[in-house]
Amino acid sequence: MTKLLILGASSSVGRHLWTRLGPDQAIGTYRSHELAGGRRFDSVTQSIAQVIRPGESSHAVILLADPQPDSCVKDPQVSHRLNVVAMTRLVEDLWGLGITPIFASTEFVFDGVKGDYVETDEARPILLYGRQKKEVEDFLLASGKPHAILRFAKVYGTEPGDGTLFSAWIAQALGGATAMRCAADQVFSPVHVGDVGEAILRVAERDLGGIYHLSGNQRFNRLELLEMTLAALVRRGYPRIAVEPCSIDDFNLPERRPKDVSMRAEKLIAATGMTMMNPEDAIDVLLRKALA
Ligand SMILES: NC(=O)c1ccc[n+]([C@@H]2O[C@H](COP(=O)([O-])OP(=O)(O)OC[C@H]3O[C@@H](n4cnc5c(N)ncnc54)[C@H](OP(=O)(O)O)[C@@H]3O)[C@@H](O)[C@H]2O)c1
Repeated sequence: MTKLLILGASSSVGRHLWTRLGPDQAIGTYRSHELAGGRRFDSVTQSIAQVIRPGESSHAVILLADPQPDSCVKDPQVSHRLNVVAMTRLVEDLWGLGITPIFASTEFVFDGVKGDYVETDEARPILLYGRQKKEVEDFLLASGKPHAILRFAKVYGTEPGDGTLFSAWIAQALGGATAMRCAADQVFSPVHVGDVGEAILRVAERDLGGIYHLSGNQRFNRLELLEMTLAALVRRGYPRIAVEPCSIDDFNLPERRPKDVSMRAEKLIAATGMTMMNPEDAIDVLLRKALA
């Protein structure tokens, strides 16, 4: 067994996988956030061949990116250089080393009109970030070379203070918030970071190829998830917090957000036998830790 190459092991998703596998089972790279036991790699200025030797790894998961829509659109040239130019060169270099890339793409390749997307639905991104990810997807799909594309839904964790969906709301609520504002028209199918890591491992172990949606089992609007979180706090004796519903368009964002990017993960589940955590259980786990 070779080690899994985690490109961007210092990312929020990568750290989870790196913590699980460690340097005995994985090679992890970081750029600015040093990782004990990891290797420094800047995809814009370096070739991966400077960091890894042939035969060290058979599969690489590519997590490194600028994954923030607002940051991508703030400097389109800089984000294009990282998310497209360096990415396609990195993929070519991996093939040159006999390594199969597993590319982390996004729910934002969709325009958000239809929702409940399956892998055969047409990707029509309206965000620059989504267009950059789709450019790499198209490059992989046209290559005729081994690859897998995992389109991640919104990823959440269950560690208090991790800054993801539920933990951020719980921190606000426990921090004394008395009112919250939340979009009722943004729909997605969030996925637990542990399930993301497990899916990456199963895709690599089974040497799966093609596109897979990596999402939770259910679609929710953001407001429903917030209400679910606050209701769990009320059940534990905390005061009810008033929520003001609004539209995602009410936030002053540089690009209009796609409204319904929910995806279906049946193809991945059939291929891997995965079972996905549901948000209700995740909130429970988080609250047990946060209130311990
Ligand atoms: N999180 C989500 O909800 C979500 C949803 C859909 C898709 N995704 C995709 O999943 C992947 C991971 O997302 P994330 O949120 O975990 O990312 P993140 O925490 O923002 O981390 C970004 C990663 O990219 C690395 N990086 C940035 N510029 C680099 C460069 N020039 N050379 C090498 N590495 C560089 C960073 O390294 P340093 O920090 O060490 O500089 C870090 O490891 C991304 O591809 C993202 O598009 C994430």
